[in-house]
Amino acid sequence: MCGIVGFTGKDQAQKILVEGLKRMEYRGYDSAGVALEVASAAGSARLDVIRRVGKVAGLESELEGYKELSTCGIGHTRWATHGRPSTANAHPHVSCDGRIAVVHNGIVENFAELREELTASGHTFRSDTDTEVFAHLIEEAYAKGRDLMAAVRDACGRVVGAYGLAVVCADEPGVIAVARKDSPIVIGRGEKGSYVASDVIALIEATRDVVVLEDGQFAKLTPKGVEYTDAEGNAIEPEVTHVDWDLDMAEKGGYPDFMLKEIHEQPRVVRDTLVGRMTAAGELDIDELGLSLEELNDIDRVFVIACGTSYHAGLIAKNLIESWARIPTEVEAASEFRYRDPIITPTTLVVAVSQSGETADTLAAIRDARIKGAKVFGITNVVGSPVARESDGVIYTKANKEIAVASTKSFIGQVVSLTLLSMLLAQVKYRLTTKQARLLFRELGDTAEQVQHILDTQGAAVREAAEVCRDAHSALFVGRGMGAAIACEGALKLKEISYLHAEAYAAGEMKHGPIALIDPGFPVIAVATKSPTYDKTVSNLMECRARGASIIAVATEGDEDIKKIADHVIYVPRCRDAFSAITASVPLQLLAREVALLRGCDVDQPRNLAKSVTVE
Ligand code: G6P
Repeated sequence: MCGIVGFTGKDQAQKILVEGLKRMEYRGYDSAGVALEVASAAGSARLDVIRRVGKVAGLESELEGYKELSTCGIGHTRWATHGRPSTANAHPHVSCDGRIAVVHNGIVENFAELREELTASGHTFRSDTDTEVFAHLIEEAYAKGRDLMAAVRDACGRVVGAYGLAVVCADEPGVIAVARKDSPIVIGRGEKGSYVASDVIALIEATRDVVVLEDGQFAKLTPKGVEYTDAEGNAIEPEVTHVDWDLDMAEKGGYPDFMLKEIHEQPRVVRDTLVGRMTAAGELDIDELGLSLEELNDIDRVFVIACGTSYHAGLIAKNLIESWARIPTEVEAASEFRYRDPIITPTTLVVAVSQSGETADTLAAIRDARIKGAKVFGITNVVGSPVARESDGVIYTKANKEIAVASTKSFIGQVVSLTLLSMLLAQVKYRLTTKQARLLFRELGDTAEQVQHILDTQGAAVREAAEVCRDAHSALFVGRGMGAAIACEGALKLKEISYLHAEAYAAGEMKHGPIALIDPGFPVIAVATKSPTYDKTVSNLMECRARGASIIAVATEGDEDIKKIADHVIYVPRCRDAFSAITASVPLQLLAREVALLRGCDVDQPRNLAKSVTVE
């Protein structure tokens, strides 16, 4: 989840590195740093390492006073795994003699033993990070007379874990050595030189033709070109991918923050995710199904595995799969699933949901499920991501790049994709006729306009409701059935970005504990859209009201009665209960954002969180 960038060529490296780091800042941002090569005697150089705790802007201002000419360097923006955020723990990390500098994304699992061994042989460690072992391992290998590439290869051979790695050495000016295992690395050639980054967003201004390095591959970047090799050092010719994103797609597009921009993209996400997914004959068309209809027909048990927001999309899917396809479905946090011994047979379908497609726990759970014989279906936003590659079949959520850490449009894309998968399972089980499927598909498509309508009309209501939470210490989100699942995601959004403690509870369970929390003014946010359990939810809200709660209700347009119970009502258009997550989640996203703004929080980059969690 950290960001790596590197450049070698005919331009000021510091400018390119800082720009690249800024673009990747959403991946990790508790500290940032660069190592810049400055020419000294012929054929040699020194490395200037500049690091700062905090955002890239801090590093940028520090670099304003830096006037050396440097045309080769590496940079990093960090999200702490080993060692707290501090200057000493910020990357790049250097060897004892300061002539080798390393930036790393990933984790060195055997770092404690390597550190002990290196310390015993005279190396001095200056940080608490796992990454620093790379600097010393490479230094050791280099001292044995190897060149930088060979030394990096040697070091990688000794490390157990994951790495995207970029390394510079003062004795080989202009060279950046790059390695990859289980952590993304992309490389590109532009007019001014060679570029490396952990995310294509850092490169697209320079080039749109990139090489996505595979596990076990290495690259040597020089101002003139890039040489690719395998783990044995044999030359290879990797495939070049053309990226057609434009920079605007990754910029705020006129909105004050990425979160709001992404919330407003949701009608498009619904439409794009559905495009081409139903044939004229009313059959669902899942382009990367990967499983035969017979195999799907045999499925007698489903596990949905995911983390965070994606897990909540799984809760929605459970409702749909069980009610439409009648297949018993469990939803489990990937971090739990992977360490249990779940009952899996060849007729079990594991549905892995992951926006990034690279969450470590979800990937590990997929691998485990496959070993146990399950079929795996991936729901992801990132084409070619590990989740996509390691699943039998995939549905892409078509949300495009999501930058705000709090997931919004990806969640909607996941719910739409999981709805399609649920329909498909119901069809293969002969529980959904073509006619019914057509109707559902059309109504599913209608939610795009319904979401747009919410965005166009409910802003003021959301802003007023947010005042209830401004000074609160805690909030409860309640609902029943689908509403309970939607409430879970609402509570997560609020706590992620406003730092207000929030908990979701099935409304019917309030009496068994949470109602004790309620005193005058306590915020209760209810998903109270028209559903089979609407009346029951209303009764539960009355109980809260009787104890002085301030109630915010997400309700169906036309429901005037709810105003007698709720202090604030945010309306959503009427839709089938099965699709209510797509509409009713939107006001909760907007509410979380408004509360966060009222409380002075950074909505795009909440503290302590990372967009994609590639370590356990
Ligand atoms: C992190 C992100 C969440 C996300 C979760 C799972 O915690 O901050 O927004 O829901 O990871 O990520 P994934 O990419 O697997 O959906």
